[in-house]
Amino acid sequence: MRTDTGQIVHLADYRPTDFVLERVDLTFELDPRATRLESRLIFHRREGVDAKAPLVLDGDELTLTELRLDQNELPAGQYDLSPSSLVIRDLPETAPFEVTVITTINPEENTQLMGLYRTNGVYCTQCEAEGFRRITYFPDRPDVLAPFTVTIIADKAANPVLLSNGNFLGGGNYDEGRHFAAWFDPFPKPSYLFALVAGDLGVVEDTFTTMSDREVKLKIYVEHGKEARASYAMDALKRSMKWDEEVFGREYDLDIFMIVAVSDFNMGAMENKGLNVFNDKYVLADPETATDQDYANIEAIIAHEYFHNWTGNRITCRDWFQLCLKEGLTVFRDHEFSADQRSRSVKRIAEVRHLKAEQFPEDSGPLAHPVRPTTYREINNFYTTTVYEKGSEVTRMIATILGRDGFKKGMDLYFERHDGDAATVEDFVKSFEDANGRDLSQFSLWYHQAGTPLVTASTSYDAAAKTFELSLEQAIPATPGQPNKQPMHIPLSFALIADNGSLVNAASVSGGEVTGDVLHLTERQQSFTFSGVGSRPVLSLNRSFSAPINLDFKQSADDLVQIARHDTDLFARWQALTDLALPNLLQAARDAREGKETVCEKAFINALLEAAADETLEPAFRAQALALPSENDVARELGGNNDPDAIHSGRQAILKQIAKAGAEVFGKLFESMKTQGTFTPDAASAGKRALRNSALGYLALLDGGAERAASAFAAADNMTDMVHALTVLAHRFPDDAKTAEALGAFLKRFEANALVLDKWFAIQATIPGASALSRVKALLEDPHYAPNNPNRVRSLVGSFAFANPTGFHRADGEGYRFLASQIIGIDPRNPQLAARILTSMRSWRSMESVRANHARSALVEIERTPSLSTDVRDLIERMLK
Ligand code: PHE
Ligand code: ZN
Repeated sequence: MRTDTGQIVHLADYRPTDFVLERVDLTFELDPRATRLESRLIFHRREGVDAKAPLVLDGDELTLTELRLDQNELPAGQYDLSPSSLVIRDLPETAPFEVTVITTINPEENTQLMGLYRTNGVYCTQCEAEGFRRITYFPDRPDVLAPFTVTIIADKAANPVLLSNGNFLGGGNYDEGRHFAAWFDPFPKPSYLFALVAGDLGVVEDTFTTMSDREVKLKIYVEHGKEARASYAMDALKRSMKWDEEVFGREYDLDIFMIVAVSDFNMGAMENKGLNVFNDKYVLADPETATDQDYANIEAIIAHEYFHNWTGNRITCRDWFQLCLKEGLTVFRDHEFSADQRSRSVKRIAEVRHLKAEQFPEDSGPLAHPVRPTTYREINNFYTTTVYEKGSEVTRMIATILGRDGFKKGMDLYFERHDGDAATVEDFVKSFEDANGRDLSQFSLWYHQAGTPLVTASTSYDAAAKTFELSLEQAIPATPGQPNKQPMHIPLSFALIADNGSLVNAASVSGGEVTGDVLHLTERQQSFTFSGVGSRPVLSLNRSFSAPINLDFKQSADDLVQIARHDTDLFARWQALTDLALPNLLQAARDAREGKETVCEKAFINALLEAAADETLEPAFRAQALALPSENDVARELGGNNDPDAIHSGRQAILKQIAKAGAEVFGKLFESMKTQGTFTPDAASAGKRALRNSALGYLALLDGGAERAASAFAAADNMTDMVHALTVLAHRFPDDAKTAEALGAFLKRFEANALVLDKWFAIQATIPGASALSRVKALLEDPHYAPNNPNRVRSLVGSFAFANPTGFHRADGEGYRFLASQIIGIDPRNPQLAARILTSMRSWRSMESVRANHARSALVEIERTPSLSTDVRDLIERMLK
């Protein structure tokens, strides 16, 4: 394992390589323990580079067996080998030269899942960000692009399928029962997009005809027997290809597009050119085993990786600081795709929930960093929700500021200018500026300043003058390394709502730029005055979450009810219901801490039940409204000195009062929202199931709840209903015999299905309360637990740490100590997995002092462990700083 090297990389140090890579030719002879790779690289010295400058190649855990320059073995004095590099001197001054590097690697022992590794007997690669250097010595950085030819030689019986990037050149039999296949990728690409897959796999095939009438072969490879579960992914792929043509004008370029689903994968999926590799969780689905959420995730991730073909592959990143250039933009594209395929407002609500639950805490804690960072020690730690989700929000704001057409013009110019380039965020922004003649320099601060802006709003109405005034103030909190912030350009979508519920059009607005329904807040303090407003309107602000900010706007319950009833933006209606819920949840947490009874406001309960029962609203929206802010949301709002037990019991008290008041509504919904006939995963049916299941969640809080949940479990005929009923049963009645029985029945039925087993582990890991820890420890010993499978580790240890506030944040600190021991155990095998799970501690300073002290000790215990990976050490040090 590569342990900490401690090197900090600075954006300011960027410079291009001394040598230009012209071509890459790789020949793999696959063997589980001794794979031989012959790599032939053609380089020439870049113009103007010193004739003495050596060629520096990156490497990591490689065995060099041979090294040649223009076919001649290189004398030992002409190169230097270190654990992380190969440096070759005395190279031709101007003429191109060929370097041949032969390395031997051991895929079977590669437990990091970076580079070439084995998963269930299949050879597979993962190279982003710096995995290619674990395969061969190479200039392993994203601004070195070349066409690749790849030949794979392997035992034919064990590996009938041999895949790499690009188009298939040919193949045939070789010696000793081996065969070979050759692939050529004509599109110059960086090493992080390289992929190789070999093994015995089943395949699902289809075709797609592009806008210029080329037929592209589509293939999804899965383990034998799982072919039928890939059909939804195939359908999502075809819809993605079509959508990218229609909405972004982007056509696919190779003759073939392949996806391979593997069961051991650190991340969600990877966009390797023409050969995406997926965590099988995001490919495999059928009604019996996949939930509606699984289907939605598959659709989104298939689209995301496919969209990378243009935003990431055809235009890649100059360096890893530019990661958001491909990730933020591609998340924005997959969000738009899903919004078009499903309900736009419901999708937006889910996105914002996710952003607030994941990115906001990151942005307000020790791991906060700008969307475009300027330093890193371990790039793997920057595949963050800030780079991805906030990066997407920043792209969305560009679209909001420029409008649909302006955004499209900017995107078109970006593709036109930079196709084939390794580009920067500045290149991206400049395309929008040039295409629209607009200065986006203040806006660019969104890329450079970390921290969630806090916008404080207040309003006043002058009946005599018929003016309505909105005063805004923005403040961006200090974040690590950034004590002082400049005011940003914050686009705020708004509406004025009249007493009768209609939208008011002001005669004019002064005080700043307003375009359509968007106010542009650009000063630290700014007031907008609307004139010609006949009666006091209700202001709906930051509609659709047009800017990723915290908004402090003290609106009365009456005003919020008015928005919840009448805004034409469904997102704003959901936001208003959430704003009505929050003060009740906060008060309930305070009351619980003081041992007081809590009383939920009637105005809120009524508004919530009104929305739940409103048949003009789509069921998925109503389900989102009924899913109150989570315990983590409440903790975030409280902002510090948190006691998860009080938050939990306060929230439960509120839920019970809603359940009592709405018993009739929930009973009706549970009956009327039952989907009939064969299961279909479409958004409308999923919405009905979601609403019915949230009704069940409330009903389970009333007398006879356990029986209700148990019978819903028994009656469930799809995985969505089954998982939901089982969760309600286990979480509310953990010690009831019916829970043990249901968990046992579920295990028995789905024992052979790894993805469903993950759900079984996750449901138990998230049972609230202090007893969760002993349950989790027992599950670690369960024969179905698999400590080397990332999905399984995440489903047990990850779910416990991220999604079980009362269990993990036990007042005695045992949850933290347990996590520390897990991190220390996982790190030597798989540092990326260890680091990812460790981020569950990122908000430790917001806990009340007893817990915070325990958390600190657990972090210090990890810090004291010898030979930690760079991944874990980097996080620990930032969290303890
Ligand atoms: N680039 C992948 C994506 O589409 C994520 C990833 C990063 C996968 C690093 C593996 C390793 O978002
Ligand atoms: Zn991506």
